[in-house]
Amino acid sequence: MTLRIITGGRRDGPTNGLIVHGAAELVTMAGGVRVGASMNDPAALVAGDDPGGLSLAAWDGRIIALGPWGAVESALDAADLPLSQFTRLDARRGTVTPGLIDPHTHLPFAGSRERELVLRQRGAGYLEILAEGGGILSTVAATRAASFGELVAHGRRWLHEMLSHGVTTIEAKSGYGLDVETELRLLDVLRELDGEGPIEIVPTFLGAHAVPPEFRHRPDGTEAFVQHVIDEQLPAVAEQGIARFCDVFCEEGVFSADQSRRVLQAGARLGLAPRLHADELAPSGGAELAAELDAASADHLAVPSEAGVDALAAAASAGRGVVATLLPATTWFLMADHHAPARELIDRGVPVALGTDFNPGTSPTPNLPLVMTLACLALRLTPAEALAAVTINAAAALRLDDRIGSLEIGKSADLVVWGVPTATQIPYWPGAGLARVVVKRGRVVSERAI
Ligand code: NIG
Ligand code: FE
Repeated sequence: MTLRIITGGRRDGPTNGLIVHGAAELVTMAGGVRVGASMNDPAALVAGDDPGGLSLAAWDGRIIALGPWGAVESALDAADLPLSQFTRLDARRGTVTPGLIDPHTHLPFAGSRERELVLRQRGAGYLEILAEGGGILSTVAATRAASFGELVAHGRRWLHEMLSHGVTTIEAKSGYGLDVETELRLLDVLRELDGEGPIEIVPTFLGAHAVPPEFRHRPDGTEAFVQHVIDEQLPAVAEQGIARFCDVFCEEGVFSADQSRRVLQAGARLGLAPRLHADELAPSGGAELAAELDAASADHLAVPSEAGVDALAAAASAGRGVVATLLPATTWFLMADHHAPARELIDRGVPVALGTDFNPGTSPTPNLPLVMTLACLALRLTPAEALAAVTINAAAALRLDDRIGSLEIGKSADLVVWGVPTATQIPYWPGAGLARVVVKRGRVVSERAI
């Protein structure tokens, strides 16, 4: 198997037209955010009995037509766009879906933490390892010592891996610097990698990820650090204009709901929309806070309180829709015996997204299709719900669903041609490399010889 990653596909370069043809299925995910998506939803799937298969045409990075070949050809004719202006890509009876979106990663870091896997096998808890100066803090030490160039090279390596699995957009957080200088460096690394492309990166400032060593030994350490994030880090980040969201690790024993509220409100005043790590290890008021602050997303939710689920359900029925971004690779890797109440959330109308949580401690996997498998097995999502969770719902978790996340005329031509005939097979082959061709903004950016 060979994989060819085509880098430098910058969005502002010259673009040609692209025609994808011969698809067995076009899973469009049209029609907006889904709760309890069904693959039989006619708006979500264009299935053709046309012997020529289904097609999609893109011009200038956007989708201009899709459907049976005859309909696409007439649309091009009507727009006066000659076929000679288009590169043709044969889907070879594969399924075509929107490009996958990973709405929760901790991409920029240095080092690795394989030792913790063994500690966990011996019974050590995640917060115990952190309290002893390991966990997040060992990654902070390695990251502070890493240069900009080293961090860029490391991030690029894992982005290529994500791309090879069909990912065209990710959210990525800082949070392994915990001081002004390193947090800014991490966000700058994200800006550099986003500029390189082809994966689009949505940057989040996660200054309140853990209390760093220089504050830890003070009696008022956590409180003083929260104030430092509000007074020093947030203004510096806002001034550089290099983050779109602000995140907090809201968790019993890390940052309380009250401290998280203060950080997120300060971020919002500076134009950074809130999202948060909520109720990952214990019910900590995170889901309630996400609903109260109208956060874009409440992430993890492995153990939300009943009141937290009620609050998210109430927000959903009021049409505000905090997205529940569930991260089943994390509970799996932490060997946890509980899982996010995905079915309850869906039954109560809460839109669900899925992310890898890619990070060196709790989820070192860059493989989003594998997360779809875990979601089907551990969270009981249907394959259709899992696909919606990494496309249109993930786009909503980043508030980008007007531009990406579905195959619709006018939207960005971000798509994957899979080497399987139906999208229900994507979670069925755990961990396999099934993304045959990846397209970002109308350009082929990755090809796998399968
Ligand atoms: O989402 N819980 C906080 N942050 C990450 C883990 C970070 C780490 O262990 O390095 C998470 O699980
Ligand atoms: Fe995380």
